[in-house]
Amino acid sequence: MIARPSRYSQSGMERWKTIIEPHRIKSVEPIRMTSVEERDGFLREAGYNLFNLHAADVIIDLLTDSGTGAMSAEQWAGIQRGDESYAGSPSWYRFLEAVQELFAFKHVIPTHQGRAAERILFSVVGGPGHVIPSNTHFDTTRANVESTGAEAVDLVIEEGRHPSAIHPFKGNMDTDALDACIRERGPEHVPLVMMTVTNNSGGGQPVSMANLRAVRAVCDRYRVPLFLDACRFAENAWFVKQREDGYADAAIVDIVRETASLADGMTMSAKKDGIANIGGWLAMNDDAWAEQARNLEILTEGFPTYGGLAGRDLDAIAQGLREVVTDDYLRYRIRSTAYLGEALLEAGIPCVQPIGGHAVYIDAGALLPHVPALAYPGQSLAVALYREGGIRGCEIGSVMFGLHPDGTEAPAAMELVRLAIPRRVYTQSHIDYVIEVCRWVAARAGELPAYRIVEQPPQLRHFTARFEPTS
Ligand SMILES: Cc1ncc(COP(=O)(O)O)c(C=O)c1O
Repeated sequence: MIARPSRYSQSGMERWKTIIEPHRIKSVEPIRMTSVEERDGFLREAGYNLFNLHAADVIIDLLTDSGTGAMSAEQWAGIQRGDESYAGSPSWYRFLEAVQELFAFKHVIPTHQGRAAERILFSVVGGPGHVIPSNTHFDTTRANVESTGAEAVDLVIEEGRHPSAIHPFKGNMDTDALDACIRERGPEHVPLVMMTVTNNSGGGQPVSMANLRAVRAVCDRYRVPLFLDACRFAENAWFVKQREDGYADAAIVDIVRETASLADGMTMSAKKDGIANIGGWLAMNDDAWAEQARNLEILTEGFPTYGGLAGRDLDAIAQGLREVVTDDYLRYRIRSTAYLGEALLEAGIPCVQPIGGHAVYIDAGALLPHVPALAYPGQSLAVALYREGGIRGCEIGSVMFGLHPDGTEAPAAMELVRLAIPRRVYTQSHIDYVIEVCRWVAARAGELPAYRIVEQPPQLRHFTARFEPTS
């Protein structure tokens, strides 16, 4: 096993039951408190789409964990250190070193965020007639696959499709289904297989190393490359360490390196486990694909040593990558998400179980059985949490996934509301407040209305659609 550099520190805090935030607060941002009456008005103005709200009108913002984390003093120091040379900046080399310390891919192509990496990758490998299997494609990944004319297929294990089914690695892929998919479609039509770690749309659920190895074996059988959508690679590694035989004593960095060693490339949003406010990258070993990707990168993102990012962003990401793989951070991170989830479950609120890494997913379909899937129970619950308590979550259900490229609409596999926890931002009392509001709303769930869509774009409609209550 590779020696653990001293900066990836472990502490003796495991002996205490209370898990404290492994940081102090140095700078604060005031939260503006609002009333239910005010929020009623904001909701009407926003067309009942929480993406349309002014963030200043939100009390606790759990819309996403993407780019919303608090940076450390060292990351802010990196912002100051950032070098803005157009080509070959020292910030780029610090970024490259930090990325390759964890993910030893030959080519690293920086992008302004994850979806830019996806767009470049699928512009190179996608196209009509191609199919891209994944455990579960995230919405931007699916949209970027489909926008090239290729087909995005989700092959998560059966347990991953049932919110209350307990499985330690619900993000795993069904390898028999993968084998059948590649065999039926023909390997020449499967340019790559994608594994999302952790599986965001499936409930922030982890993927085991054993499953990754099994997926790798199927890919090898058909000579199909394997790529990671690695946004939450560190959280996944923590679950592996906690739950998978043989990894209890492994260092997180070694688990991450092993994960990377099983793949041929990756897309990454540094807004998640980079603990940065912006950034991402595409990485791979294939020289020909990398050359095409760099040419596309220059067209839309920028020169390949900055890729749509300022030098200071590259430095912030480099530092974030070193902080995210520490045990103290990950123990706090995963435990504080579980704290919220366990309290909701105790109150009888159905949630995806086990609780995932970055978010708690309330099963709105189960909580609002009187609202049919295409009357958007997740949207109804998300709106109610904002109306009652100023809490902004995100529908992950038929609003997000129900509209197909041919314009038809069908219910999504699950109707969830995701409460995503920004990294290092909220304290336990904020989360206690969230628990209280959720309990209040859940006790009145039977009164929540159905919704209909009054305006929507043809793709990624959840960002801009407008709704109205129908009951
Ligand atoms: C699993 C996954 N993949 C890709 C993305 C896209 O990343 P970005 O928002 O940086 O474009 C996200 C963002 O939420 C994600 O969760």
